[in-house]
Amino acid sequence: MPAIYKRTLVTSALPYANGPLHIGHLAGCYLPSDIYVRYKRSKGEDILFICGSDEHGAAIPIRAKIEGTTPKEIVDKYHKMMGDSFKEFGISFDVYSRTSNQIHHQTASDFFKTLYDKGSFTEETTEQYYDEEAKQFLSDRYIIGTCPNCANPNAYGDQCEKCGSTLNATDLINPKSTLSGSKPVLKLTKNWFLPLDKLQPKIQAYLNEHKDWKANVTGQCKSWLDNGDGLQPRAMTRDLDWGVPVPVKGAEGKVLYVWFDAPIGYISATKELRPTDWELYWKNKDTRLIHFIGKDNIVFHCIIFPAMLMEHGDYILADNVPANEFLNLEGNKISTSKNWAVWLHEYLIDFKDKQDVLRYMLCANAPETKDNDFTWADFQTKNNSELVAILGNFVNRTLVLTHKYYHGSVPSAETFTKEDLLTLEQLASFPDKIVASIEAFRFREALAEMMNLARLGNKYLADTEPWKLIKTDEVRVKTIMNIALQITCNLAIVCEPFLPFTSAKLLNMLNMPVLKWHAAKQTSNMAAGHQINKDELLFAKIEDEEIKIQIDKLELSKKNNTVIVVPPAKAETSFDDFSKMDIRTGTILEAERVPKTDKLLKLKIDVGIDTRTVVSGIAEWYKPEDIIGQKVSVLVNLAPRKIKGIESQGMILMASNAEGELSFMNSTKPDFNNGSEIK
Ligand code: 2FM
Ligand code: ZN
Repeated sequence: MPAIYKRTLVTSALPYANGPLHIGHLAGCYLPSDIYVRYKRSKGEDILFICGSDEHGAAIPIRAKIEGTTPKEIVDKYHKMMGDSFKEFGISFDVYSRTSNQIHHQTASDFFKTLYDKGSFTEETTEQYYDEEAKQFLSDRYIIGTCPNCANPNAYGDQCEKCGSTLNATDLINPKSTLSGSKPVLKLTKNWFLPLDKLQPKIQAYLNEHKDWKANVTGQCKSWLDNGDGLQPRAMTRDLDWGVPVPVKGAEGKVLYVWFDAPIGYISATKELRPTDWELYWKNKDTRLIHFIGKDNIVFHCIIFPAMLMEHGDYILADNVPANEFLNLEGNKISTSKNWAVWLHEYLIDFKDKQDVLRYMLCANAPETKDNDFTWADFQTKNNSELVAILGNFVNRTLVLTHKYYHGSVPSAETFTKEDLLTLEQLASFPDKIVASIEAFRFREALAEMMNLARLGNKYLADTEPWKLIKTDEVRVKTIMNIALQITCNLAIVCEPFLPFTSAKLLNMLNMPVLKWHAAKQTSNMAAGHQINKDELLFAKIEDEEIKIQIDKLELSKKNNTVIVVPPAKAETSFDDFSKMDIRTGTILEAERVPKTDKLLKLKIDVGIDTRTVVSGIAEWYKPEDIIGQKVSVLVNLAPRKIKGIESQGMILMASNAEGELSFMNSTKPDFNNGSEIK
């Protein structure tokens, strides 16, 4: 990052308009970006905060089918719902746009046309599945069939969710169209590809200039670039009827790939917000562009979108992409289909006016460097032992005493003791400490510093004990209360990015206007004689019963989702057929993740006859370091096959439960009932 930028453009990933928002969304990118922008605004910097709904892609028509309605109704419904949730939680976008807007269709279409005219794309004719009954090409998610790797009969055309392998639709055995149930046929179709392979050196050079990015981000980029043959050409158009039509001759019935049009949504939303000077934010080297995203979006924002922008030529590239990892809920992955989530619109029904409690919890627990867990017990503790007991307690004591001793009029500071001077010095040092953490995208650390300021206030009151001193030294108490009020006021300023509702409430109680960030470096914002308003409690205790209601809700989701399915017995097999299988005991010697996959591990296994490589879809349940030395049964005469460019020479036998979770057969995991299949 060059020393001085004149302005900042912050984008937050455009969420798909196919479901409501949950805490994982908030923790992933919307809360950190909001904190960042609020702090920059408070400093008086020129900054825009951009977001909107991502309304294209195959997921939308699929959702429409599930809900028995049209794609248009789906995006209208969820665009409104998501926009409302963002507002309710104080996510302060300058614009919340949507990719179905005309301005976006035009912008994305023009962008494609520019690249097309420059000759940036290669045209490739490939065979794609076509549904003859529905009369349309099928995107990967519209095709299910049997996974060639694990025999899961419900694998999708792009991925088997059971074993985690990335698939091509043509890999599926017995493919079926989910539209009509018929067997699709292969048909030739032309699409336009971005030759990422040729652009790799430029992308590499761009990434090399940004060695300061978060380790999880650089790590993922590296695994895409360094793996095997490196980057591969990627189709930027799709045979689909929902999206931005491809604006060239011979492309009828095709739309732009959703990951081509969605990031351009950031540009169109900026145009919508600033019709006359949007280019200043996109085409001027003095602008710093920052994309806040979740980890599943890294490749699109760090490799594909920059490649598109480079090819176009007119645009600046992101200076940073501070991606978060994932938030889990009570030890399990958040899942929309399993209703394993805390939905934002439901939270506010159960916890009215407690937006800041959730913001606090999600920031204190943010998955900044690794996946993290949200638990309701922790939520209760963070509220009761931190917000109520530290921040709320300090503010409450200060305001109550001010009313009691001075009828709400700020007392004057008389003579400062050494202790007072030290406290004032510390008070003035907080904004810079918080800034250093926010600027480094370490929001948890920044929040902890903010709470340390409340701790400083509590300590000061506990050490000086004005409630005792008032009987003997009224003059001294005036100074103490003046200092406590200065701390309270500065807290209202520095807590605003994290807890905007609390900050507003506090400023109102103090009868103070909104103050800029630099004021928090002052120690005399509250003038003697200034009249404060009536005090109210900032935070209320959350009782066990309230938490139990939430836990019960989750238990219910779990119950509704855990129907034990014992797969039916397969057809009889002969002893001869069985004896053809050569199954050996083995020991795992080495294990490592297969780059660019979430679920595959590459294992080196000693099977007695030799040591061989086996690629297995168990990474979701086992860490490589935890399974070294694990005994396994290995089918050693399975024909070798290439998975992600690695030759897999056999298959380890695992037990599989109803969720598709895999476990070593000698494991004592409770979820593996009798009748679990060995795979
Ligand atoms: O993962 C998602 O929810 C995508 N809709 C994010 C898109 S970000 C940007 F490119 F628009
Ligand atoms: Zn599979």
